[in-house]
Amino acid sequence: MLRKSKIKLFIFIVLWTFCGDASCNKDDSTTEGNERPKNIDEYNQCNEGLKDYYTPDDYFYMGVAIPPSFINNQEKINLIKRHFNSLTADNSMKWSSLQPTEGNFDFTDADKIVAFAQTNGMKVRGHTLCWHNQVPEWIFKNGEETASKEQVLNRLRTHITTVMTHFKGKVCAWDVVNEVIDDGSSIYRSSQWYNICGEDYIFEAFRAARAADPDAKLFYNDYTAIDPAKRDKIYDLLVKLKAEDLVDGMGLQGHWNIEYPPTSLIIQAFDKYKSLGLELQITELDVSVYTSNSEPESLYTSDLALKQAVAYERFFIAFRNYKNNITGITFWGLADNYSWLDKFPVAGRKNYPFLFDENYKPQKAYFVVINF
Ligand code: G3I
Repeated sequence: MLRKSKIKLFIFIVLWTFCGDASCNKDDSTTEGNERPKNIDEYNQCNEGLKDYYTPDDYFYMGVAIPPSFINNQEKINLIKRHFNSLTADNSMKWSSLQPTEGNFDFTDADKIVAFAQTNGMKVRGHTLCWHNQVPEWIFKNGEETASKEQVLNRLRTHITTVMTHFKGKVCAWDVVNEVIDDGSSIYRSSQWYNICGEDYIFEAFRAARAADPDAKLFYNDYTAIDPAKRDKIYDLLVKLKAEDLVDGMGLQGHWNIEYPPTSLIIQAFDKYKSLGLELQITELDVSVYTSNSEPESLYTSDLALKQAVAYERFFIAFRNYKNNITGITFWGLADNYSWLDKFPVAGRKNYPFLFDENYKPQKAYFVVINF
């Protein structure tokens, strides 16, 4: 399978070499695949980017998750504006950022990202209203005691209502609830939310979100959402949410690697989620160059670049095949100089998960992704 893809990619590269100059005029660059940049020189001669090749009308919004500091840096701004028409705050809209202590909301960082998106005509995906991580301890406390279920649910409703009201009309989709399904044999993750409230907090979160902004698209978001056992548990939850008309979309995070997941699992998951009439979004795409925690750190060799291009090509073929169901693809980072994968799952092991390198130049995978 991998070998076949490699051969295909090789033929591709040879063809590019003999194709002559790519035209980058606005009139013709967004139509025919064979007129798109195929190397760095051609890339430098034009202005088009991912969002121009994957237009929302024909394909999906192309998004990127960023911290607010990125919009102080001209090189990053240029790259963001060239390629993306949707933004997500990587941390600034999480509970611990927005309401670190009870009743004290701080929208400063999140507002910067939203303002930048608005100025540049980009959509914003909100991430995330209810998660077990980056969540302050006070939610679950009543003095020294554990808070009651009603107290926790009230805090959840207040948080969601306040945040979504603040961003009403500016954030078009929200990851309302994030990562609540268990990776093992239980149905739900054993979090403080679950231990105090049972599954009710999930439904209360979606109800509060629906009431706060009926125009926003509401998503459930999770990782390894293509794994069959986890997928089926997520599906069961979505069925219940859908029965109350509380959910509009399924967010598959897409923290994948150069070998995993196989296309079959991606397709089976897309089919299953879309059968509920939900929008699909890939919400946190990055493609690790490592396939296990035990692999030692590597330089970004041409072999890895090729393997990564093959993987990205495979994933984007699947995305394009589901373009009627997928409404957005968001990368969980902009370029290889900043990724959570440098710290996880192996702290300090440099990773290269994106389409752009540490100097914001497109990688081989970029050319494969745009030449279709
Ligand atoms: O802000 C503090 C800073 O004050 C402190 O000095 C520094 C010391 O390490 O930590 C900073 O906080 C870090 C934060 O990112 C902001 O950079 C946290 O330690 C660090 O744990 C946190 O990591 C984030 C991670 O979620 C937390 O689980 C990553 O940036 C973020 O990319 C990652 O995103 C998640 C999605 O929300 C959900 N899906 C999985 C994805 C990857 O884990």
